[in-house]
Amino acid sequence: MKVPMVNIHAEYLKLKEEIDKNILKVINNSDFINGEEVKEFQAELACYLNVKNVITCGNGTDALQIALMALDLQPDDEVITSDFSFIATAEAVAFLKLRPVFVDVYEDTYNINVEKIEAAITPKTKVIVPVHLFGQCADMEKIMLIAKKYNLFVIEDTAQATGCDYFFSDGTYKKAGTIGDIACTSFFPSKNLGCYGDGGAIFTNDETLADKIKMIVNHGSKIKYFHEIIGVNSRLDTIQAAILQTKLPHLDEYNKARRVAADYYHNAFSKIENIIIPEISKFSSHIFHQYTVKLQGIDREKLQEFLKKSGIATAIYYPMPIHKQKVFQNVLYDDNEFCVSNKLSNNVLSFPIHGEMNKEILKYITDSVSDFFTRV
Ligand SMILES: Cc1ncc(COP(=O)(O)O)c(C=O)c1O
Repeated sequence: MKVPMVNIHAEYLKLKEEIDKNILKVINNSDFINGEEVKEFQAELACYLNVKNVITCGNGTDALQIALMALDLQPDDEVITSDFSFIATAEAVAFLKLRPVFVDVYEDTYNINVEKIEAAITPKTKVIVPVHLFGQCADMEKIMLIAKKYNLFVIEDTAQATGCDYFFSDGTYKKAGTIGDIACTSFFPSKNLGCYGDGGAIFTNDETLADKIKMIVNHGSKIKYFHEIIGVNSRLDTIQAAILQTKLPHLDEYNKARRVAADYYHNAFSKIENIIIPEISKFSSHIFHQYTVKLQGIDREKLQEFLKKSGIATAIYYPMPIHKQKVFQNVLYDDNEFCVSNKLSNNVLSFPIHGEMNKEILKYITDSVSDFFTRV
């Protein structure tokens, strides 16, 4: 059996008729840029999330850059973000000549350690960018309190958590990406809501920021050929919007299927003492963009090699914390500040997870893992 990390094709086959029809409709209309489907998808996603504005763009990295551009920051202003994540967040910060300030993460949820945020704040700090890693929210209630206390903006990176719910201590809840000032997401094909190419979006309830973001994505312009601010050209193309429109009504079902798969993994892996299963926060649902465990007392590469021989893909998200990346070696970061992210990069392992997992696949994976542990 071959088990890839994701199976986008299987997901496509289920919706093939509708997706093919909707792609053909765009081609027949030849309305490829900012077509009706883009506007409709923005409205539909805004309704699903219960947020006032969804502004689509070219990809999740652009979304982060555009969100930061909307905040009128000055060179060397500081942006606090997680040390254990995909590079895009820190990259967008550095690209705009702002200074990324990394904060270590919790060992159990892999999300930013909110108890360490205040110590990282300086007079130059302007923004906190929590990343909702692997499909569950960072502790947004505490982050919003800190932001309020120090008058900081919050940009949520929700690229891995579209559809996830955050539960407040008063019993109310909001969708990930609707709590901070702005949020950014990615529709990269393997994301929980993915298109068939690149795509991204920015969400905000703030109308002033929304107006500015709408200009930034469109060359800093409200009226064609009249440019008020420096912007970019970053658009979700109409074909991708049509695909996302078709998939959005199924997002909750896909996320549920991922949770069912995660439960299967939990049951099987909690019996193996070398595997520490991921923790689910009290304040967040988990939509398992990744199913990532920690390994102890075992050679990670040997396990990966063993599973590969059985056709099972695994991946390491992420093999190097961001403060250690070559690109950030010109900035002095104290390695001792990042004990957890350093440790995680050496012991995490992600297993295949997507909306089309079934018991047969899950049994094959978990039996193979058990088989490995009985042999060592
Ligand atoms: C947490 C996070 N932020 C940002 C991005 C960037 O998204 P994109 O690949 O669409 O630029 C990703 C994508 O992998 C991501 O996982």
